[in-house]
Amino acid sequence: MSKTLFVCQGCGAEHRKWMGQCTDCGNWNSVTEQVIEAAATRSAGKGKALEACPITDISRKNSPRRSTHINELDRVLGGGLVPGSAVLIGGDPGIGKSTLLLQAAAKLSTDTNNGPVLYITGEESIQQVRLRGERIEALHPNLLLISACELESMLATIAKVKPSTVIIDSIQTTVSSRLTSAPGTVSQVRDCSAALIQHAKTFGHVVILVGHVTKQGALAGPRVLEHMVDAVIYFEGDRGHAHRILRAVKNRFGPAGEIGVFEMSDRGLIGIRDASRLFLAERAKDAPGSVVLACMEGTRPLLVEVQALIAPTVYSTPKRSAVGVDTGRVAMLTAVLERRIGLPLSQHDVYINIAGGAHIAEPAADLAILLAMVSAYQDKAVPEDIALFGEVGLTGEIRPVGQPESRAKEAVNLGFTRVVLPGENLERVQKANIIANMRGETATSLALTAVRDLSEAAQKIFK
Ligand code: TYD
Ligand code: MG
Repeated sequence: MSKTLFVCQGCGAEHRKWMGQCTDCGNWNSVTEQVIEAAATRSAGKGKALEACPITDISRKNSPRRSTHINELDRVLGGGLVPGSAVLIGGDPGIGKSTLLLQAAAKLSTDTNNGPVLYITGEESIQQVRLRGERIEALHPNLLLISACELESMLATIAKVKPSTVIIDSIQTTVSSRLTSAPGTVSQVRDCSAALIQHAKTFGHVVILVGHVTKQGALAGPRVLEHMVDAVIYFEGDRGHAHRILRAVKNRFGPAGEIGVFEMSDRGLIGIRDASRLFLAERAKDAPGSVVLACMEGTRPLLVEVQALIAPTVYSTPKRSAVGVDTGRVAMLTAVLERRIGLPLSQHDVYINIAGGAHIAEPAADLAILLAMVSAYQDKAVPEDIALFGEVGLTGEIRPVGQPESRAKEAVNLGFTRVVLPGENLERVQKANIIANMRGETATSLALTAVRDLSEAAQKIFK
C-alpha cells in the first residue's frame, strides 16, 4: 500500500496536508507532495532479552585506520578512514570534491590487500572520470568505476565487487526505484543514504557520500543525513583563491574543527602543510591597519593577517563591514574602542578583512581586530615582528584564550620574535619555553608582552 505525504524539502518534516510554510522550520514553499511506499509491516513479536555486558569485558575490535595517503585529508579524518564508517563530504559545485575523492581513491586502491575501491559516479560519465584521472595521475587497475544512479544496482554491485571503499558521487543523484519522488528530494536522500550506510556496516567497507550544498550554505537534503553518518566534512574556499579548506564539522572518530589546506593546481589538489605561510604570503609589511593574528583551527595553529580600513563616512549611519569575521562582532568591538580608548569612530566607516579568504570564528581574534583598527586610525604600523591573540570583553579587559602555547609556537616557526598575549596566558606560554629563531646557531629568546586591557595593549604596541 502507498500513501501520500507532504514533506518539507528543507527539514524533512512530514505533514498530512499541503501548506505554504513548513510549521517545523518556517521555510516558505518547501513542502512538496510525495508518494511513500509503506514498508512491509514488521511482525509484532515479543522482544527477546539481550545479554547486557560490562564495558570492560567488551573486546576491542581491531579496526586499524586506513590511511588515504593524502596527509591533509587524513588529518581531517582524524588519522584515516575507519572500516565500516560513513563519511559525508559537502561543498559548493566546482570546489573540488570529485577531484579530491578521485585522488584519494587512486591512493587507496594501491593498497591491494584490502580489496578494490569502487567509485560510483552519477553526475559524470566514466569516460569523463577517466580523462580527469589521467590529468591528475589517478589511474590504477584496482580502482573500479561505474556510472549509476539507481540505488538497487549500486547495492548489488557493491555486494559483488566487495570493495574496501565505496565513493558515491553524489548522494543527490542517487535514486531508489522503490520511491516515486524525484532525485535529490528529502525522502530519496534519506532512504538511499540509510541503505548505503547499512550496507557499509554489514560488509565493513567505508562509504563516502558526496553532498551538494544549497545557496544558503547548508547541505542539501535533510539534516538527518548529518546525524546518520560518522563524519561530516565541508570543503570551503572561494573562486578568487586557489586554496581550499577541508573542515571536519563532526567526527565520531577524531577531533571536530580540524582543517586541511589544499591548493588547486592543474594536476589536482595539493596538500599544504605550511598553511600560515600561504595566508601571510602577500602581507604588506609596515603598512598601517595590518596585524598578524595567531588563531586556532581545531588543533592546528594558523597565522592570518587582519586588515582594517577606517575612512570618514559619507552616510548618515557609518558602515561597519567585515569579510572573514562576523560583522556583529566588529560592530561591538568598534563600540568598545570608542568607549574605552576614546577613538571618535561615530563619523567613520570601518572595514575589516581577513587576507587570503580565511574565515575566523573564534573570539581570540578580538585583540587583533581592535589593534588593526587603532593602527588604521592612527596611521601607524604595528611592528612587523609581532603576532598576537586575545579575547576582549566589553569593559576593554583582555581575556585568556585556549592553546596559547601552540599559537606562540606557530608564530615563532614563521619568524616572529614578539608575541602579544593576554596576561593570564603568560605563565603557560613561559612554561612551554619556546625559543625563537631556532634555525640559526644562536637562539634568541621570544619576547612575550602580556597585556591586561585594551589601552595597555595600544600603549605597549604603539609606543
Ligand atoms: P570538481 O572536483 O569537479 O568539483 P565538484 O565535484 O566539487 O563539483 O572540480 C572542478 C573544478 O576544479 C573545475 O573548476 C576545474 C578545477 N580543476 C583544476 O583546476 N585542476 C584539476 O586538475 C582538476 C581535475 C580540476
Ligand atoms: Mg563533482
